[in-house]
Amino acid sequence: MKVKRRQALSLLAACMATPALGASRITLRPEKVVTQVAGRRLPMLGFNGGAPGPQLRFRQGDTAQIRLDNTLDDGALVHWHGLRVPNRMDGVNVLTQDVVIPGESFDYLFDVPDAGTFWYHSHYLSYEQVSRGLFGAFIVEERNPPAVDQDMTVQLFDLLLDADGQHDDSFDPARFATEGRLGNIKTAILSRNSVQQGDRLRLRIINPSVDRIYRLSVTGLEGQIVALDGMPLEAPQALGPMMLAPGQRCDVIADVTGPVTLRDTYGGADDVLGQLTVTGTRSPSDAPIPALPPNRTARPGTPDHTTKLVLQGGAGAPAHRGTGTWALNDVSGLPRRPLIAAKRNQTVRIDIENRTGFPHVMHLHGNHFHELDTSGNLGPLRDSTLLAVGETRAITAVLDNPGAWMLHCHMLSHQADGMATWISVS
Ligand code: C2O
Ligand code: CU
Repeated sequence: MKVKRRQALSLLAACMATPALGASRITLRPEKVVTQVAGRRLPMLGFNGGAPGPQLRFRQGDTAQIRLDNTLDDGALVHWHGLRVPNRMDGVNVLTQDVVIPGESFDYLFDVPDAGTFWYHSHYLSYEQVSRGLFGAFIVEERNPPAVDQDMTVQLFDLLLDADGQHDDSFDPARFATEGRLGNIKTAILSRNSVQQGDRLRLRIINPSVDRIYRLSVTGLEGQIVALDGMPLEAPQALGPMMLAPGQRCDVIADVTGPVTLRDTYGGADDVLGQLTVTGTRSPSDAPIPALPPNRTARPGTPDHTTKLVLQGGAGAPAHRGTGTWALNDVSGLPRRPLIAAKRNQTVRIDIENRTGFPHVMHLHGNHFHELDTSGNLGPLRDSTLLAVGETRAITAVLDNPGAWMLHCHMLSHQADGMATWISVS
């Protein structure tokens, strides 16, 4: 693969060219890697020699057997973000398993129930380990995937470097009452660099950045947004700017009409994140872009539990009673008792209110939920919902996956300093 030097994180992009692992038995080795960033050699963390780690690829219904072999000199854990796995495979310290100590391994074993775009990442000291590169794409193919010419991943990532161009270690989430660890370099890590005019692409867009929200605007493509957070949209949407908060995903199927440019236009920015050059022409498909087949989820009706979740803390917000910078319902960090104790297959509704001066993205493990619009209609299925400053949003789900499930802000600096709770399903 040819690497365009234009992108600051060119070598990160090159690492993405490592072939996808499709075998059902995989070993993931978190380790120190050295990556070329902005012309300097930068020590990062990666899996199996690369940051990001290898793309894991399965077919819906496959059994994944993944050994985490901890070759770090620190603890390690892997969380399968968005995958509805059994609770003991969820990779969360304290709630679902013990941290894997250096030199030890842990065998993750689970069926992949849903087709779609997911990702995996460290869930131990995650704001630090993810910002250093411990993440990768986790793709589950449909049994009959839609016909496309290229199926590619796009990972939106930023890095905070210090004056010497090294990973800025002075960032301490406990001292930051604002947006969190925003990088001074941002890029799109693409699994390929060129396409042909007329190609039909499936873009699997993932935001593994620790704290940054992107508003992704794309030129050179005509098509549809077909899935959010791995879950197909009942009705695909026209391809416009996409809001991607940390942890969120978006699947696009679109035809190449010219050179493809990906820009971040969040908050008035206009920064090129990545480009696909056009190397030839093929006659475009005249088949309509299909909706993806739905994954099996139960439709929520009247809730058995309704709860309020208030996001608190940070600069300029009223005081709260938690011990950290950030809090949920006046508690910072995992409370002893869950926010909700539900019985399996009960329906819950959570009214989330953002009383802080910053946006937040609330992520529920192990279950997808519907966003509710302001008139109470069921919106798309998501595993992470973005709340603007002052916004209130209700989410609802049938909790059919038993266990102890984390619910936290996926701005990992906010999570590290208080914004986390959990739900139990028995
Ligand atoms: Cu993407 Cu609690 O995680
Ligand atoms: Cu947050």
